[in-house]
Amino acid sequence: MTNETIFTLEATPIKFGAGASADAGWELKRLGASRVMVISDPGIVEAGITGRVVEAIEAAGIEAVVFDRARVEPSAESMQEAADFAVDGDFDGFVGVGGGSSLDTAKVADLVATHPAAIMDYVNAPVGGGKKPPGPLKPLLAIPTTAGTGSEATTVAVLDLPDLKTKSGISHRYLRPHQGIVDPELLRGVPAEVTSSCGLDVVCHAVESFVSKPYDARERPDTPDDRPPYQGANPVSDVWSAKALEYGGQYLRRAVSDADDLEARGHMMLAASLAGIGFGSAGVHIPHACAYPIASLKHEWSPPGYPDDHPFVPHGWSVIVTAPAAFRYTYEADPEKHRRAAELIAGEPIPDADENTLPQVLTDLMRDVGAPSGVRELGYDDGDIEALVEGAMKQQRLLVVSPREPSEDDVAAILRDSMENWSPAAASAGSPGRER
Ligand SMILES: [Fe+2]
Repeated sequence: MTNETIFTLEATPIKFGAGASADAGWELKRLGASRVMVISDPGIVEAGITGRVVEAIEAAGIEAVVFDRARVEPSAESMQEAADFAVDGDFDGFVGVGGGSSLDTAKVADLVATHPAAIMDYVNAPVGGGKKPPGPLKPLLAIPTTAGTGSEATTVAVLDLPDLKTKSGISHRYLRPHQGIVDPELLRGVPAEVTSSCGLDVVCHAVESFVSKPYDARERPDTPDDRPPYQGANPVSDVWSAKALEYGGQYLRRAVSDADDLEARGHMMLAASLAGIGFGSAGVHIPHACAYPIASLKHEWSPPGYPDDHPFVPHGWSVIVTAPAAFRYTYEADPEKHRRAAELIAGEPIPDADENTLPQVLTDLMRDVGAPSGVRELGYDDGDIEALVEGAMKQQRLLVVSPREPSEDDVAAILRDSMENWSPAAASAGSPGRER
């Protein structure tokens, strides 16, 4: 095998700061849009956030048509509805306003409207056809209202495929938004549980990318076209991931416990974008690969703090539950980086770290922000392991950047170890995420 010698440095231009969303119209005008589709979900519309953005867009003389049916945890079906709306509407620009679900739906609507094809054709192989977008998309402005997915900064759109009992995604550099606007003022009123799940997603993005397989340990592809968006850890992605880890450790507990702590919530929003750039370059692996079947296999759990229109496992919580066991497994690939990740979150040197240190730092954070104790709390037991493993092993696009390439048995052991990261009864008192 010839090793890769090249990595790519790419990042979404992001405008950050309180009040930044007022520039939405100015940014769209700069990008040449005159009639845009604004993709949002009903909760965000009801909170008045979408309306504020639309006002800012119209003030710049741009026509804005709101599509308010982006679904939390979008499915191929809900994305198809947005894509049909996009095709019919003859738009020359797209705006996503909301959590990762709205932003991902906006990416797919833009893709299908610009280069018409069935959504499944574009979904990553082997789940979908793996078709590459034939050219750049129409201008896309991404305005996140949660501090989590970092979708404003990434080239990925994730969708739930209930028929296949898994999630998959569309991943290509052309899906990268042309501009992100990250405005901490939009986070006002987000429930503690949403802040918890989203924040733990940020932390996991950062750890997974920080410890991922180094780019120069990968095989060099035959052509530049075959170079994947997830290229493995590199000197530049490490910078973004490390800063996101530091902010996650420093600000997530505060952001969850006090909805009015704009300093903490603002830093978590920034951390989400930083981690998005980091993992958009390096990639995520085992916890995210396990999270997809955890979120998809059973739709029975009704998460506190979220809209109650359909049962689901919020993404961040579906990811974090297997993180302690996953990083215990990957530790031997690079002990120093695992120690460093633990130190960045803990905010202090940990000279005598071992394979349990990073898992412990993560477990402490999970408990403090009211995360579920493990996979069992989400409705699974040992009898589901085989099906969960099968779903996780389908995520080869992710697993190839794991620092240790896990076998089916390895993934099964990680899931078994993740059933309970602590005894749930012992944690029910004093958990800030559950009190609200
Ligand atoms: Fe994630």
